[in-house]
Amino acid sequence: MGMLGGVMERYGSYLPMTSSTPIVTLKEGSTPLVRSRVIGPELGCEALYFKLEGSNPTGSFKDRGMCFAVAKAIEGGAQHIICASTGNTSASAAAYGARYGLSTVVVVPAGEIAIGKLAQAMAYGARILAVNGNFDDALRLVREASEQLELALVNSVNPFRIEGQKTGAFEIVDEIGDAPDFLCIPVGNAGNITAYWRGFNEYKDKTDGRVPRMMGFQAAGAAPIVDGAPVLKPRTIASAIKIGNPASWRYAEEARDESDGMIEAVTDDQIMDAYLRLARQEGIFCEPASAASVAGVLRMPELGVSLAGRTVVCILTGNGLKDPSTAEQRASVELEYVEPDFAQFEAVLRSDPKSSL
Ligand code: F0G
Repeated sequence: MGMLGGVMERYGSYLPMTSSTPIVTLKEGSTPLVRSRVIGPELGCEALYFKLEGSNPTGSFKDRGMCFAVAKAIEGGAQHIICASTGNTSASAAAYGARYGLSTVVVVPAGEIAIGKLAQAMAYGARILAVNGNFDDALRLVREASEQLELALVNSVNPFRIEGQKTGAFEIVDEIGDAPDFLCIPVGNAGNITAYWRGFNEYKDKTDGRVPRMMGFQAAGAAPIVDGAPVLKPRTIASAIKIGNPASWRYAEEARDESDGMIEAVTDDQIMDAYLRLARQEGIFCEPASAASVAGVLRMPELGVSLAGRTVVCILTGNGLKDPSTAEQRASVELEYVEPDFAQFEAVLRSDPKSSL
């Protein structure tokens, strides 16, 4: 074979497969683990890595769990899948649904989905229901729908989603050769932190029992786990994690407590600062929710956590192209219009006082 397969092919022996589970794949997983050149050295880390989950086939980490959830839905005879989503889950469900001939219904908070994600659900041909409410309302509706109707629910409350997503932890250990000291991850519905914690635990035989401290970061206006109470009207620029009552809340707290970790808040300003630093100092364009993990690592010294000599992995959950409007609004650069005439063009090129041309 030689070439790496998708999540089910690469890590099937760690997944609850049966002889009748079909392989469902868009060759997801095996995403780049890229070492920081600026932020990590500045923080004094032994190594800071970014795991580029935006390199998955639909541009987010959701594909890892979606392939397996769809495989299990097909195994169970489902013809319809449904999910609630802040955008990425819907894009992923729509893609795998299309590929394997399932009808896909996605339920999103009206007016709150980044345009790239909505474009994906449309292109893949999903049916899109926009709820006049937030993500938590949408999740309530689809849970009830999946109980009443013949629809397979593919949100991360579906245990097979978590199973597939835990493979991100396997890849980190396989690549570094050990568990990192810290795993920094954005927290929305809290499925991903749950999945990584499971993955590191299931891989302990490869790390002499070492597991990372799990550091989860919520947006300050949507930080129910930090506040200790559901947030009725969550607010944040990071629309992917604009969630007030996470389904896997309890498991996220378990991951935090069992790993001696933390779940903390980062403000929208801190998120945008990390978003721009990643793009402009590291060459990595992720979506705002993903930058929460880096906003978090930047806060760790102030939270009393020393990074000196430590190995840290930040999960960058989704691609920056998912949310072009935020890039346009918050990272805009003025275009310089030029005529197709070399003399003028050269004059413009030389006119930048910051360049030595
Ligand atoms: N980052 C991105 C880009 C996301 O899309 C999500 C969740 C998260 C982080 C948080 O992960 O929910 O497992 O804690 N997006 C979901 C969705 C809610 O519908 O696409 P989590």
